[in-house]
Amino acid sequence: MARAVRFDQYGGIEVLYVADVDVPAPARGEVLVAVRAASVNPGESAMRQGYLADLYPASFPSGQGSDLAGVVTQTGEESGTFAPGDEVLGWTDARTSHAQYVSVPVDHLIHKPANLSWEAAGSLYVVGATAYAAVRAVGAGPGDTVGVSGAAGGVGSVVVQLLRVRGAEVVGIASPANHAWLRAKGATPVEYGPGLAQRVREAAPSGLDAFIDTFGKDYLELAIDLGVAPERIDTIIAFEAAGRLGTKTEGSSAAASADVLSELAELVSSGRVEIPVAATYPLDRVREAYEELERRHTHGKIVLLP
Ligand SMILES: NC(=O)c1ccc[n+]([C@@H]2O[C@H](COP(=O)([O-])OP(=O)(O)OC[C@H]3O[C@@H](n4cnc5c(N)ncnc54)[C@H](OP(=O)(O)O)[C@@H]3O)[C@@H](O)[C@H]2O)c1
Repeated sequence: MARAVRFDQYGGIEVLYVADVDVPAPARGEVLVAVRAASVNPGESAMRQGYLADLYPASFPSGQGSDLAGVVTQTGEESGTFAPGDEVLGWTDARTSHAQYVSVPVDHLIHKPANLSWEAAGSLYVVGATAYAAVRAVGAGPGDTVGVSGAAGGVGSVVVQLLRVRGAEVVGIASPANHAWLRAKGATPVEYGPGLAQRVREAAPSGLDAFIDTFGKDYLELAIDLGVAPERIDTIIAFEAAGRLGTKTEGSSAAASADVLSELAELVSSGRVEIPVAATYPLDRVREAYEELERRHTHGKIVLLP
């Protein structure tokens, strides 16, 4: 038997519990991974609350979790280059990574660079693929100044750093507590709240060339008002406004590949991109992990260590 996060009905944090379940057997093309780290993401809260039931209906009992890093303990048939003892990172689309063991298709895994921490490795897929897709969508590069909302959050912190790797200037919208971190990454921090448009104009006197929204609210309208062309705006959350305003909506599914994950893992292991870890929790404290996440002020990632 092994421990795994479960919920039996849509609802708040109180529906989450940790159950004793059978250790899954890897199917053809899969390997069994003993999970060392698995981050939590806001999309999992939304699914658990039933907000995405039309798109991604749950079947109960349901698990949670996409991101994962751990050690291969068993291989199914046709499991490619993976062998027991290999350290890996990747993702599952079956919402099962918040568990001690998870069976994962081998094309959703890569070998973990030795110097990549378990916490960073188990946080990389969702925020990494999403940030990668958003940065690619706005085509940012040298000479561009890019506005980013939620600039120190899980996705935003990777967006900011990928933009800097590409040679763009960044105006990062975040609360003052995160301004020192943004400055250290070479971004110009700006506080959200009343007067934001004016503060962005002062931070980018020649104007913004592109905008990446990771928070929602009125940020697409702000970007349009600041003169950014809709085709150089990407949101990962404000889909209704994006349809109305003609902006892009590229997120994790646009960059969900082992090749992208390898590129990201190399950027992190070489020190060019940091995955800030806000907090870690043992599996039994999964409710506290989501409570912290749902306050919506996480800097970087909250990670379960099963
Ligand atoms: N489409 C996709 O593929 C995709 C993939 C991943 C995530 N998402 C969605 O993207 C969103 C962000 O995900 P995440 O993992 O980055 O979340 P997160 O780590 O919880 O980040 C939340 C961030 O929001 C910031 N924030 C709070 N109030 C704000 C305000 N009024 N204005 C601007 N920023 C504010 C916080 O910054 P301060 O602490 O500085 O206040 C915090 O850094 C979520 O809604 C998630 O569901 C979509």
